[in-house]
Amino acid sequence: MQLKKNKIFTLDKYIDEALYNKKYGYYMKADPFGNKGDYITSPNISVLFSEMIAIWIILFWKNLKSPKKFNLIELGSGNGEMILQILKTFKKFPLIKKSCKINILEKSIYLKKIQKQKLKDYNITWLNNLNNISNFPSIFIANEFFDALPIKQFVKKKNKWYEKNIKFSKLQKPKILDILVNIKKFEKKIGFKISQGQKFIEYSPLSMKYLKSISKLIKNNGGGLLAIDYGYIDPKMKNTLKSIKKHKLTNVLDNFSKSDITYDINFKIMEKIIKKLGLKVNGITNQKNFLQKLGILERAEIVSKNLPFSKKVNIYFRVKRLIHENSMGKLFKVIFATKKNIQFKTGFKN
Ligand SMILES: C[S@@+](CC[C@H](N)C(=O)[O-])C[C@H]1O[C@@H](n2cnc3c(N)ncnc32)[C@H](O)[C@@H]1O
Repeated sequence: MQLKKNKIFTLDKYIDEALYNKKYGYYMKADPFGNKGDYITSPNISVLFSEMIAIWIILFWKNLKSPKKFNLIELGSGNGEMILQILKTFKKFPLIKKSCKINILEKSIYLKKIQKQKLKDYNITWLNNLNNISNFPSIFIANEFFDALPIKQFVKKKNKWYEKNIKFSKLQKPKILDILVNIKKFEKKIGFKISQGQKFIEYSPLSMKYLKSISKLIKNNGGGLLAIDYGYIDPKMKNTLKSIKKHKLTNVLDNFSKSDITYDINFKIMEKIIKKLGLKVNGITNQKNFLQKLGILERAEIVSKNLPFSKKVNIYFRVKRLIHENSMGKLFKVIFATKKNIQFKTGFKN
């Protein structure tokens, strides 16, 4: 679908076009990460982030009774940095290294190329969807994946629900248009009463689709989902849609396909959806707690021990960025879901 003048599109269609159109989509033509890009993600700030994820996976795998074969599936690998560091860490743990079948689900052809180059020494399967995953326990990991998926927005005005649409016209720049919707009909379609207790709704049909597949796989084969994202914990949803260019916020309607569009995950609603899909949510915490409980500060001390002062400072500066409350430590949240019979709280409660 091409965005045409004098046409109206739902917000999720607009975002999908802006980010993932095969020809001009934001994620399809360039590497957005790092100082030269538009934003930076935790794995690209410090390798210690990915090391902590690797340690968490090893401990969870042990809790699953160290299955001889299991799937590790990364959702949306970006430039492949996190999985690269996880695989490097696994080299020190031969048993898990031997048992682990690595899979990446990646939509961007451009980023897939970068990942394939970066990970050329490893045996990895790139997936186009979650339909053909082998019947082993599956551990899904997702850093800033769900916040990159298109969302719909609805607003309640005088007891009526309206969906946010984008209107294109020949003469003016795109405009937001609220169009009346039958929310009950929509809720029936998605199988979830999303409007309950809300005045504003942010809902990602694609997230729901993935969560349904992931829940089914975990229920059938065992394993779990660990997702880390920018977000908030509140029963009420709010408007969090934003666009980011060169590390600064911009208007979502400007820079079409030239800036990232993202939103904050409401972890309370995500928890509700995951529970509705039959999984247990073992924990929700912030990135600071999660990384500290896994020992990021102790690890920083070990790796910086014999380094010159300037390198030590660099390591601690990066770790601080990941865990400080005014930085990513509080803004980022971590959610962990499994089958109902699993008791594993590492990273959430010790
Ligand atoms: C915000 S980036 C995060 C990248 C990486 N996880 C990191 O932390 O650096 C989102 C990633 O998800 C990918 N992605 C977005 N939508 C996707 C989809 N529907 N299926 C698979 N990957 C997708 C993007 O191409 C990108 O690699």
